[in-house]
Amino acid sequence: SETLLFKVLRWQVLFSFLSSWLCHSVSAQLHYSIPEEMRKGSVIANIAKDLGLNIKQLSPRKLRIVSYVSEKYFSVNTENGNLYVKDRIDRETLCARAASCLLKFDAVVENPLNVFAITVQIQDINDNSPIFFHDTISLEMIELTLTGTHFILQNAEDPDIGINSVQTYKLSDNQHFNLSEKTSTDGSKSPELVLEKPLDREIQNMYELILTAIDGGNPIKSGTALVKIIITDVNDNFPIFSQEVYKVSVSENITINTTFLTVSATDQDEGSNAQITYSFRKTSENLLSSFMFNINSTNGEINTNQKLDFEVVQNYEMSIQAKDGGGLVAHSKVLIEVIDENDNPPEISITSLSSPIPEDSAPGTLIALIIIRDQDSGENGEVDSLITEKLPFQLILSSNKYYKIVTTNVMDREKAAYYNITIKVFDRGSPPLSTTQTIRLDISDVNDNAPTFSKRTYTAYVPENNLPGASIYTIQASDLDIGENAKITYSIFCTNTEDVPVSSYLSINIETGVLYSQRSFDYEQHKDFQIQVTAKDNGSPTLSSNTTLIIHIMDQNDNIPRILYPAPEVSDSVFFEMVPISAEEGSLITKVVAVDADSGHNAWLSYHFIQVSEPSYLSISQHTGEIRTSRGFQQKDVLKHKAVILVKDNGVPSMSATVTLSFIVADNFQQVVPKITNHLSSEDSPPNLQMYLVIALVLISFLFIISVMIVLISKYKQSKSLAAMGSFSANLYSPVDPRMLSQFNNGTLSLPYPYNLCVALDSSESEFSFLKADQNVILDNLIDDSGPGNGNLSATLEPNISPKVSVLKIIYC
Ligand SMILES: *[C@@H]1O[C@H](CO)[C@@H](O)[C@H](O)[C@H]1NC(C)=O
Ligand SMILES: *[C@@H]1O[C@H](CO)[C@@H](O)[C@H](O)[C@H]1NC(C)=O
Ligand SMILES: *[C@@H]1O[C@H](CO)[C@@H](O)[C@H](O)[C@H]1NC(C)=O
Ligand SMILES: *[C@@H]1O[C@H](CO)[C@@H](O)[C@H](O)[C@H]1NC(C)=O
Ligand SMILES: *[C@@H]1O[C@H](CO)[C@@H](O)[C@H](O)[C@H]1NC(C)=O
Ligand SMILES: *[C@@H]1O[C@H](CO)[C@@H](O)[C@H](O)[C@H]1NC(C)=O
Repeated sequence: SETLLFKVLRWQVLFSFLSSWLCHSVSAQLHYSIPEEMRKGSVIANIAKDLGLNIKQLSPRKLRIVSYVSEKYFSVNTENGNLYVKDRIDRETLCARAASCLLKFDAVVENPLNVFAITVQIQDINDNSPIFFHDTISLEMIELTLTGTHFILQNAEDPDIGINSVQTYKLSDNQHFNLSEKTSTDGSKSPELVLEKPLDREIQNMYELILTAIDGGNPIKSGTALVKIIITDVNDNFPIFSQEVYKVSVSENITINTTFLTVSATDQDEGSNAQITYSFRKTSENLLSSFMFNINSTNGEINTNQKLDFEVVQNYEMSIQAKDGGGLVAHSKVLIEVIDENDNPPEISITSLSSPIPEDSAPGTLIALIIIRDQDSGENGEVDSLITEKLPFQLILSSNKYYKIVTTNVMDREKAAYYNITIKVFDRGSPPLSTTQTIRLDISDVNDNAPTFSKRTYTAYVPENNLPGASIYTIQASDLDIGENAKITYSIFCTNTEDVPVSSYLSINIETGVLYSQRSFDYEQHKDFQIQVTAKDNGSPTLSSNTTLIIHIMDQNDNIPRILYPAPEVSDSVFFEMVPISAEEGSLITKVVAVDADSGHNAWLSYHFIQVSEPSYLSISQHTGEIRTSRGFQQKDVLKHKAVILVKDNGVPSMSATVTLSFIVADNFQQVVPKITNHLSSEDSPPNLQMYLVIALVLISFLFIISVMIVLISKYKQSKSLAAMGSFSANLYSPVDPRMLSQFNNGTLSLPYPYNLCVALDSSESEFSFLKADQNVILDNLIDDSGPGNGNLSATLEPNISPKVSVLKIIYC
């Protein structure tokens, strides 16, 4: 439209030039000046008057405006010659930015034709405000933009010209920006934004300013635009850790993968510039830490990668780094203190142990040296230790960690051959941990125990006539020690060397203690042996002990009864006994006296007639051997009788002897003396009856005295027998006749208890009395006088006790 406007104008100018050249009538020039935007119908001027035309002629002369363009804007009134504004005249439309805006037209009158050139100058008025083409101006600038940097802004447009067009710009109040104007080469001005102060996105990331354009009209008009400045981020901020040093305590029993610390760093930038990656710094000091711990690169969680052990490392120090997307890094330190837990039981180690120790070690002897340790620290590492049982040992702290075990008593291997010493150690942690260890301590033997016999005195019963070389007894000692110290050798010992050496009777196996007889024993010769047995161990020095063994020889029926009266040596013919014819019934004629060297049953004699003339008027007492008349004699009776008397003992088998007696029944001695003398003596000396009677009396008295003496001696000897008969050795007593046992053991009387008898030769005094054993009688008095040990087996209730003829020798060893 602008170009069109210019064409029109050019065309106008050309037209007016042509018309003036053709008509040559251009006489006057009129020039008017009006403001634009006058109201329609406004009178500009009276051109008739200005041209000097008669108003009345105007109409006939056909005054008119000739112009291609201007006819539109102006009109002329032919009646009064006024020039009117016909249409709105906008200078900006007609002339745009031309400095002067002229509308030219011609006023033509005919008759005569006159053409008048009229120029109307349109003056500008401030009818337009400055306008920004975009009401929002967006700008982006990085936060690091240098101060003084200019940013060209869009300028405002104002169609008005001159003073009415845009004169200045203004910027709303702010801290950072100022406005300057730039005049381009064509003279147009545009506003420029100038950065006056450095920007920081982290403080303010956007500014909104109002740019105002102001013209110079009256009144002033203005237009605004919003300037939106967005500050873009630059990685100008380092990450920052929340703490310079992180300190954390971690229990050593923390489970693996447990997060115990979270570090965090912040970055004020945005986007990738604020995206932080955590890591351990790659330094040599960090090698261990980065092995032990993990750090989550995204959220900074630190957790354990390995089991912690206070006993190995107590503190960890590591540097961590935070790196943002722009590559800026920050560092911080993490100090990890490992807290001790009571996770280590105390340890016991034995550094030296002396085992075995001899049992005679003095109290206080060092047995073992042990080390007690606990790897924990503090209370967890403090230990208390003790020996669990009550034993004769003591645990003594000798120096830091070293403990001694010493004995508190003397040892006795025979009571305890070894000890299990259990040491218990517990720490003071919570809960406490404990360790026990058992030490076995052996006690070695010392020869401190002598062999012992179970009894002070042993008694053995051995039947006589035993086989030489047979074992008769076993004696055994025991020794509480062991090994060589308990190896016992036996010996029999004899103090009395004046007699036959004991070795000729007995021998002992030195190892087994079995006693062997060396010869056959004869009860009638030796009734007892007393030997001393010594048991000796093999220790060093050796110890020994003694015991006494009494061997009782037991009787066997090996002796024939021996008839003392009538003397057997004279009875090989016939022995005469005178019986007074006047003898009454039951009067004692004679008495057969027999002895048996055996004892007990074996010496229990009985008397029987085995051959007697008929009719028998004699009777014999089976027990006493007394021969009495069974009836009175008459004159017609046969005066001479003969009887064979059997004396037998009660042994099994029994043994017997016989004697033949002849009886002569006579009134007086004279009748029988010749016969008797024949038999009593082989001498040819004249018989002397008185003499014979005396001899007979003396003989009887002598026998009586001997009997009494034997009885007395056996009574005195019984104290010895009493002790010796304390018990029977069962294994050796088998030869004893069980009938004897039952006989002697009836009632309250024990077998060996001796009863001594006093026996009268005469049957009228045939009574016996018990004599009590007198312990106070001195034994020595009786030695060699009689057999002291026979009392035990002769203790029969048999009234007819045989006198002891054989003399027993005691072997004192
Ligand atoms: C803008 O420039 C003017 C003139 O140079 C000055 O007076 C004013 O202080 C400046 N404003 C700022 C914010 O720097
Ligand atoms: C660590 O030890 C303490 C005390 O001994 C105990 O209470 C806790 O349960 C233990 N923790 C672990 C994970 O075993
Ligand atoms: C610890 O966590 C890692 C990753 O989550 C896993 O692979 C590993 O097996 C875990 N270790 C233990 C002992 O749980
Ligand atoms: C780190 O933590 C994030 C968020 O909790 C998790 O998704 C990621 O698996 C963790 N990385 C490792 C290696 O554990
Ligand atoms: C000693 O320990 C051993 C082996 O542990 C055991 O057989 C024995 O019975 C213990 N002795 C005592 C007296 O406790
Ligand atoms: C055993 O008897 C012998 C001889 O009488 C004596 O020398 C020895 O000391 C006795 N031994 C003991 C232990 O009594």
